[in-house]
Amino acid sequence: MAILITGGAGYIGSHTCVELLNAGYELVVLDNFSNSKPEVLRRIKEITGKDFTFYESDLLNVDAIESIFSQHDINAVIHFAGYKAVGESVSEPLKYYHNNITGTLNLCDAMSRHGVYDLVFSSSATVYGVPKQVPITEDSPLGATNPYGRTKQMIEEILRDLHVSDNRWSVALLRYFNPIGAHESGKIGEDPNGIPNNLMPYISQVAAGKLEQLNVFGDDYETLDGTGVRDYIHVVDLAKGHLKALESVLLTTGVDAYNLGTGFGHSVLEMVDAFEQASGQKIPFVIKERRPGDVDSCFADTRKANQKLNWAAEKTLTNMCKDAWNWQSNNPTGYTEANDLVTSIQIAP
Ligand code: NAD
Ligand code: UD1
Repeated sequence: MAILITGGAGYIGSHTCVELLNAGYELVVLDNFSNSKPEVLRRIKEITGKDFTFYESDLLNVDAIESIFSQHDINAVIHFAGYKAVGESVSEPLKYYHNNITGTLNLCDAMSRHGVYDLVFSSSATVYGVPKQVPITEDSPLGATNPYGRTKQMIEEILRDLHVSDNRWSVALLRYFNPIGAHESGKIGEDPNGIPNNLMPYISQVAAGKLEQLNVFGDDYETLDGTGVRDYIHVVDLAKGHLKALESVLLTTGVDAYNLGTGFGHSVLEMVDAFEQASGQKIPFVIKERRPGDVDSCFADTRKANQKLNWAAEKTLTNMCKDAWNWQSNNPTGYTEANDLVTSIQIAP
């Protein structure tokens, strides 16, 4: 019996693989490396001392997915694979609808053909759009404001429809808030392509001297210091939330959404301060215009995940910043330099 991890070479997927392997699960991992590097696989094995099966496959390739389900006794799936850049989704919506939605349809089709009905899905707090109130509860109205967010909202609805059609489906919709940080070993972490869009990788690259200064997008929000407030969560806490969600879907049926955050909001300037203290590096910044689509404040009500999944984030802001800096300073060019070291990747089918 194995757990299939789609997008397992990515940022959150790789950290989840580590936690699952450490917990003794057998894993089959697939990824097409559209936003990740093969070297991460070697690092996961190095951290855990455990092996797993990997396929370089695309969820858009129906035959490849079928072949993986035929060759392995899969009993549940954690589905990370998808594109996630908000700006790109606005300029290339079809690319996002096709990859994220068709990929999920192909996966669910293969699952039902092989009698697999337990699924943990990577959704996002972005499905809430502009929150009516904070902290945000799972029953707040949904209203994603860009194509990326709408793919997540649509997939949530598709998965709910699947359960209506066949009540054997058991699905956890995990709405992540802002995952940051890295594994404490410094061996795996976030490796964005080009100039980062998100705050924490941008700050890390300023600290490393790769970028000159941070642009703070707006200081006139309705927040304590005027800068945007978000719920930053350590990626290892998030990964552990997947273990709890997996245990839950294996025991129950139905579709449940869970907020995975810390329940606390921090402003951009608080993040700069926390990172400076944790890293000992100065982060020069300038105040710029607001970024279109940004909201004042977004943080989670986490009581449902606390109570129903028996999960709570444990790591502090200092842990998040220290681990982000440890990863950045040990891997100044991300995974790129070590790519040649990887051998023996299977191509499916
Ligand atoms: P990531 O890009 O690092 O990981 C996604 C992985 O999926 C990549 O390794 C990519 O190569 C792979 N992939 C994409 N399309 C594929 C396909 N068609 N077939 C096979 N593999 C494919 O992203 P992440 O940050 O680890 O996010 C994982 C999931 O969580 C995504 O679905 C993302 O939308 C969601 N999410 C992420 C965040 C965040 O801030 N990182 C927040 C909310 C939700
Ligand atoms: C963004 C996405 C969201 C996605 C999430 C995680 C948008 C509008 N939203 O959320 O859909 O789920 O990433 O991938 O892109 N900031 C700066 N300077 C920077 C970068 C960010 O000041 O260079 C500020 C932002 O204005 C915001 C905060 O930092 O207030 C966090 O930004 P970011 O890390 O991009 O996350 P979100 O905007 O929450």
